[in-house]
Amino acid sequence: RAHITLSTLNKLHAEGKKFASLTAYDACFTQILNQADVEVILVGDSLGMVLQGHDSTLPVTMQDMVYHVACVKRGNSRAFIMADMPFMSYSTDSETLDNAASLMRAGAEMVKLEGGAWLASSTRLLAERGIPVCVHLGLTPQSINQIGGYMVQGRADKQAETMYQDALALENAGASMVLLECVPTSLAKRITEALNIPVIGIGAGPHTTGQVLVLHDILGISPIRPKFVKNFLAGTEGDITRAIQNYAEDVREGRFPGPEHSFN
Ligand code: KIV
Ligand code: NA
Repeated sequence: RAHITLSTLNKLHAEGKKFASLTAYDACFTQILNQADVEVILVGDSLGMVLQGHDSTLPVTMQDMVYHVACVKRGNSRAFIMADMPFMSYSTDSETLDNAASLMRAGAEMVKLEGGAWLASSTRLLAERGIPVCVHLGLTPQSINQIGGYMVQGRADKQAETMYQDALALENAGASMVLLECVPTSLAKRITEALNIPVIGIGAGPHTTGQVLVLHDILGISPIRPKFVKNFLAGTEGDITRAIQNYAEDVREGRFPGPEHSFN
């Protein structure tokens, strides 16, 4: 089967179809995600918590990210690979370019940055140089100390309007994708309908173009269990490939997420 590219994902968005994304950090799970038809693999800085045992994503370094992107790249035959720019790796223009380039050399096909409208200049800088950008809005874990906790973002009208305007501004600045984390379903729907680029959601309801979850969370082996997570290994008699296939199919068919995994 053909490699998934940004054009594939744009086409799905334009046709109102859905795609599935999961995190992976190594070659073995990447191969399983390929077998299970997961379109987008996110090498997330969640690896700081899931693999390294930190209590936030802040300690993750560029060296960590490059190592795991390279592992995923070696295992991948088909999925589109997105990689997180870790905490403080995009604070100046030259750091942003150097660090994004390192992730792309390691095998990423898109980089993800957390923030809001202030990322417009970094987004333009990267996009003009051929590096596709996903902007992560809503609950942005690298700002957890500023936000004060892992809670739903954009519930108040003013905050919702800011997020909506940020998404439009970032698309205008050249972003190729938006990721919404822990956002009310109605706001995620409004943003997805307004944008020409695909929107991926996590805890953002069923209306986004794609869905993403942390791999270890859907296998039920994480210590934490947020509301937006479903254990897909349950009921498969321990068949990990089947569990991931079920997740991907449920996303594409609109069966996941349900209201019990979403915020109103
Ligand atoms: O790091 C990560 O896994 C992420 C997803 C939770 C969206 O950014
Ligand atoms: Na992340």
